[in-house]
Amino acid sequence: MTMRAQEAPAGRTAEPAVRLDAVSKTYGYGQDGLLALDHVSLEVGTGEFVCLLGASGCGKSTMLSLIAGLDRATGGSIHLGGRRVAMMFQEPALFPWLTVQRNVELALNGRPRAERRALAAELLKTVHLGGFGAKRPHELSGGMRQRVALARALAQDCDVLLMDEPFGALDAMTRDLLHDELERIWRDRGLTVLFVTHNVREAVRLGDRVVLLSSRPGRVVEIFDVLLDRPRRTDSPEVASLAATVTDRLREEVSRHGDH
Ligand SMILES: Nc1ncnc2c1ncn2[C@@H]1O[C@H](COP(=O)(O)OP(=O)(O)OP(=O)(O)O)[C@@H](O)[C@H]1O
Ligand SMILES: [Mg+2]
Repeated sequence: MTMRAQEAPAGRTAEPAVRLDAVSKTYGYGQDGLLALDHVSLEVGTGEFVCLLGASGCGKSTMLSLIAGLDRATGGSIHLGGRRVAMMFQEPALFPWLTVQRNVELALNGRPRAERRALAAELLKTVHLGGFGAKRPHELSGGMRQRVALARALAQDCDVLLMDEPFGALDAMTRDLLHDELERIWRDRGLTVLFVTHNVREAVRLGDRVVLLSSRPGRVVEIFDVLLDRPRRTDSPEVASLAATVTDRLREEVSRHGDH
């Protein structure tokens, strides 16, 4: 991991996994139109972990849904070079009547049944839920449900994982554990991750870079390189110190708009 942290800036010179060129998004039309994203350009290197940070309503979820192809940009272009994208939402959105195992198998549709079963079981092991396949979502804790959602996202065999505040509702200790697991999976699979969070420390804990967006319209205002060795700890002085710098910049941005 230490190697990777040191090499992170070099990773960006490789072909980007995701490239946004002057991407704009307006919701609605004419006078009622709301400019949610304004000429956002960003390159995410292959294998890079990028965190997106910004005030509520600044367009973070919009950006992910455009990249995932759930919605269309009104300007600019998004380039994925044919890479497969999976998305993980804040709410795990599991089917309550299906077992954990079946919830993951659903994402593997199109493969033979036996293969689906074996793969889903393997993925549940990856997220440390090996013994829980037969449970139903309501029998699990919030953190465990998010791990099932992570297994389901991984089942899509993606190159790029888009995560929209996936751990926002969890307590700090559970979040720490999931950070460790996500970091391991990211490294082992060579994933490219775009991770949205409100939490500055979480962004610094996880990201190779932290991208700060402004509000209304959403624009990239600053990008912070996080050159701290991995694995990092959310409560380490190094993480706290960079997080303080980022928070100051975020505050400046929010007060400039005067609406928070
Ligand atoms: N489907 C939609 N129709 C109309 N307006 C929308 C739609 N989705 C988002 N918006 C508006 O676009 C802006 C950006 O919303 P978005 O959900 O991307 O923000 P966000 O940064 O993810 O906020 P949060 O941190 O609260 O999740 C907001 O002003 C929101 O009201
Ligand atoms: Mg959002």
